[in-house]
Parts: sequence; structure tokens; C-alpha cells
Amino acid sequence: MDSNKFDQNLIRKIRESVDIVEFIGRYIPLEKKGKGYFGLCPFHNDNNPSLSVSREKQIFKCFVCGEKGNVFNFLMRFKNIPFPDAVRQIGNEVGISVGNDFKAKPDKNKTYYDIYDIANKFFQNNLLSSEGAKAREYLKNRQLDMETIKEFQIGLALTERDSLTKLLTKKGYDLKTLDALGLTTNDNDAYVKRIIFPLYNTNGQVNGFAGRIYNGENINKYLNTKETAIFKKGENIYNYHRASEEVRKVKFVILMEGFMAVIRAHTIGVRNCIATMGTALTNDQINLIKRLSLNVYLCLDGDNAGINATINNGKLLEDNNCNVKVIPLSEGLDPDDYILKYGSEKFISLIDNAISYNDFKIRNLKRGVNFNNSTEKANYVNSVLKEISLVKDEIKREIMLKNLAKETDMWYNTLEKKLKDLLANQENAKIVANDFEKKPKKRLDKYEKAMQSIIYYMLENKEVITIVENSGVYFPIASYRILEREIAYFYEKYGYINMADFNTYIESNQEIDEVFKEIMGLDLDSKANEKTILEYLDVIKKYNVALEIKRLEKLIEDEVDLNEQAKIVNQIMKLKMGSENNNDK
Ligand code: CTP
Ligand code: MN
Repeated sequence: MDSNKFDQNLIRKIRESVDIVEFIGRYIPLEKKGKGYFGLCPFHNDNNPSLSVSREKQIFKCFVCGEKGNVFNFLMRFKNIPFPDAVRQIGNEVGISVGNDFKAKPDKNKTYYDIYDIANKFFQNNLLSSEGAKAREYLKNRQLDMETIKEFQIGLALTERDSLTKLLTKKGYDLKTLDALGLTTNDNDAYVKRIIFPLYNTNGQVNGFAGRIYNGENINKYLNTKETAIFKKGENIYNYHRASEEVRKVKFVILMEGFMAVIRAHTIGVRNCIATMGTALTNDQINLIKRLSLNVYLCLDGDNAGINATINNGKLLEDNNCNVKVIPLSEGLDPDDYILKYGSEKFISLIDNAISYNDFKIRNLKRGVNFNNSTEKANYVNSVLKEISLVKDEIKREIMLKNLAKETDMWYNTLEKKLKDLLANQENAKIVANDFEKKPKKRLDKYEKAMQSIIYYMLENKEVITIVENSGVYFPIASYRILEREIAYFYEKYGYINMADFNTYIESNQEIDEVFKEIMGLDLDSKANEKTILEYLDVIKKYNVALEIKRLEKLIEDEVDLNEQAKIVNQIMKLKMGSENNNDK
């Protein structure tokens, strides 16, 4: 996206109207440490808070994945939107309108979303038509009222095999596209006689459908959109866009197995629920969930499959630094059934009394164990001890240990000793793993470091721009040379300089983007004096001289004329003396 075309002053005004710490803090929890703020980076699978946000510089950077930039970059990456949209969105928030010439490039998937929108409206209308009577009856029996049906845009695919196909082809969309989108098969509607639940991407755009049977036919209960350019089952999370606001308020998210559960919870005012589509959590989904909140409550079905999924998903989430709690459902019920059977109050109290993931695991280990059988009992004790050893909090460990001693009627001391052994083993394993992970860092030579430092300080302090310009120094590496020119140009044009705004200005320039990001990530003293700058300039000048000497030496090798050779030798001598003189300074 070419940000040079946009009004730099307007962009600056918008950017300055928000504080990056406050802004990013809305999306991920940040903690103050020393000068900066830190949080788990939402752009990779982060285990330690590696995203640093600087209030002073109004930029963020991740030490691990290298993602960096200002508020606009954050929003672009976070919401997967183009630059103009990010500016417009923040502009709207702070009451600065960006005008009409400020448009995003047309989304290459726009046609797909347009088609889904039409289909979505069509399905919704069908449900309200006379043919929809039976389906409406079904929904009524499932205690879904009109308000809920509207909110979740529930619709109906008709019995007629080509109604949607006809509508869309009449509007000029070709069958090949409809096929690619999973709306048609064999030139006919893919969804026939099914209640339709639209699926959404994280921005709330419809990107697929799930069709449920309602007439008692003995066929596949749900028919989901196949994998398309805009829908991947393993990446999608149901209700993400609706839940996000509520999650920010209540500070935890409830993960369920299916959309009926989510919809039901919504009807009783529990609106921080999301769901996978009955599948195991993928890394993509975990990263999306972490953007909502690190506090994840699992409320999966109460049957065996649901319990196993709770164990597995809980582990995945914990490994990814989430705080996991479990809302266990009795009698094999799913949240929908549970709420209908026991009512909202009881369900809400289950949420309030959600148990820790560890307690849930221990509870589960106990299932079916015969305490009169010593082998079974010993196995149980050992597996609970292993779970306890994974708990980080010492006090919690002690409580759990005491509980175990009590319920198994064993000596506390025996259990404690065994736990200590387990902990020691883990410690050893960790040390080995750490040694293995230490990687050598890329080292810059002093010349490149000098160039980077100068650029860094040019962005920090306009006086440095003048010093560098006056020195007439030539940056021997193209990307730094371009950066230096661009900074000088920006300053001349706008009369000020800072990293955050320059970042927006430079965005489109692939050539220098990478080095610029590297420079933004430098952690140098915030103020440099003139002497330091001059020293850096000197390093670069010497480098240029060394390069020139090399060039001339190569020239001598190819030169046959002795006179010419002498001339070059002379030149080299002069250069060498000059650089020695510089040394004395
Ligand atoms: N699912 C699916 N295909 C199936 C069954 C289930 O894609 N044949 C997905 C759906 O996304 C569903 C989730 O897995 O929401 C959970 O399945 P299930 O518990 O069987 O469905 P419910 O959500 O309980 O739906 P209903 O109450 O209508 O049976
Ligand atoms: Mn159900």
C-alpha cells in the first residue's frame, strides 16, 4: 500500500490522538516493566511476553518474531486489514474523518464475500417465507426465538434444488465461482432443505455456512462449507466477532464445541462464548483466542469425547500460556442441553465456580479407579503426583498434595518426597532444553552498526539530520543510503521527524522496509551527543576509503601502463594518509 499518496499530516494527527500503550492494551494485556510495556505477542506462538511497546517512541516490537511498527501496523496485522482501513478505523475512533480518496485496494476476495452476503440474505428470507413454516416450527421447538434467529442470521435452504443457483447466476456469477465457494454441486444448490447457520471470519464477514437437517432425515446432521479460499475449518472460530467486545469486558472467553451451544448461551446473556466446529484446536485458533483473552474457560460437552477434548485442548492452551479453567457439565450434556434442562441461573453459577484445569484433570484421573486395588490406586497416586508437579504455584501444589494424602489415606511425607524427585527431574530436563535452544545471534560489523545507529538517531533527533546532511557522508549500502535520503526528505517536507510517522511514510518501500524495521528494533541510548554521531560518521567514511582503496588495488592489477600504475599508487597513498590523519583526530 503506497502510503506516500496520503496526507501525512492527517495520518500524523490521527496517530497522535491515540496512545499506543493504551491502544494495544485493549487487545492484549500489557504489563509495565522498567521503561516499557510488555505482553504476549499476538503474531506468533508466544510463551514469554516478547512484545514490547514504547510509549516514548509510540512503536511496538516483538523480540522473537520481529513484528514492529506503530498503531496502524498493529491494527493492520491484528485485524488483517489494509493500511487505509487501519487509518480510517482509528480516525473514526478519535473523531477525525479521513475522506473519500482514502480507499483500500479492492479485496481480492470481495466477490466471494458479496456472493455469500447475497446467499445469506436469501436463506434468511426463505426461513420467513411460507416454505419456512416447518423449519420455524423446528427452531421454536428448540426454543430459539425470532430475536435470536435474527441476531445469528439463521436461514433456510429450500427444497427446490436450484433456487440459490438460479438467483446467483442471474446476478451474473458463474457456476465455476459458485462451485469454488461450495454453494453449488453439479450445477445445483449444495444446500437443500437444511436450516442454515452462517459462519463468520474474525471480522464478522460471512465466509461459509453450516446446514442442519430438521426434517428427521437420516443423513449427515451438519453440512459445512468445504475448504475455500476464505474458509478453513481449522482456522475458523464461531462467534468470534460478536464475543470479542464482551470478552474484553468480562476478561475471559468461554470455548464451546458447537454453535448451538454458543447461541443458547447468548440467549441467557452469556455472550463471551466462541466455538470450534467440533474439531480439535489448531495453532491458528489458539492464536486467535489469545487475542481475545488469555483466560480461557472450556465448556465442552459432558460426554466422554468432550472430557477427552477438554484434557487435550486444555493442555494445548496451557502450553500456549493461557490460564485454563473448566466448566464441567454433568450427565453427558452439552451446554445447550444443560441450559435447557437446568436453567440459566444454574449454568451461570457453574461458570462462576469453574474449576482449574489441573483439578479437572485430577478429577478425571479418579474416574473408575478402584481404591481397593493397590495397583490401580498406586497408578492413580503416581499420575496425580505428576499433574501436581506441573503446577507452578508452590502453595497450590501443597494444597493439592494435602488433598491427595487425605483422599488416598497416605503419608504426606511419602508423597512430598516423591513430588520433590519429580520436580528435580523436570529441572534437569529444562536445563538441557535451554542449552539446546541457545542460538547464536546475528552480529553486525561495526560499519553496518554505525549506519544503523546514525539512521536511528536521525529519527530521534532532527539536529542529527542536519549533522549528517552537512557531513556529506556517503552510505555505502543502498538501503541505508535510501533511508538517509528519505528521512532528510521527510524532515524537509513536514518539518519534524519521528519513528512512528516515518514508519507509515516508508511502508510501501520494500527495498528499505527490512532494514528500517531492524533499526526500529534497536535499543540505543535515547540521546546521542554530537561527538558520538561524528564518530559514527567517521567509521563510515573510513569504510568508504577502505572500499576505494580496494577498488584501486584491483585497478592496478589490471593496469599495464606503468605510468598509470604509479598514478594509482599515489592515489592509494593519499587515501591511506588521509585516513591515518583522521585517526589522529
Ligand atoms: N459438527 C459438524 N458435522 C457433524 C456434527 C457436528 O460439523 N456431522 C460440528 C458442528 O459445528 C457442531 C459441532 O460439531 O456445532 C458440535 O457437534 P454436536 O455436538 O453434534 O452438535 P450441536 O452443536 O450440539 O448441534 P445440535 O444440538 O443441533 O445437534
Ligand atoms: Mn446439541
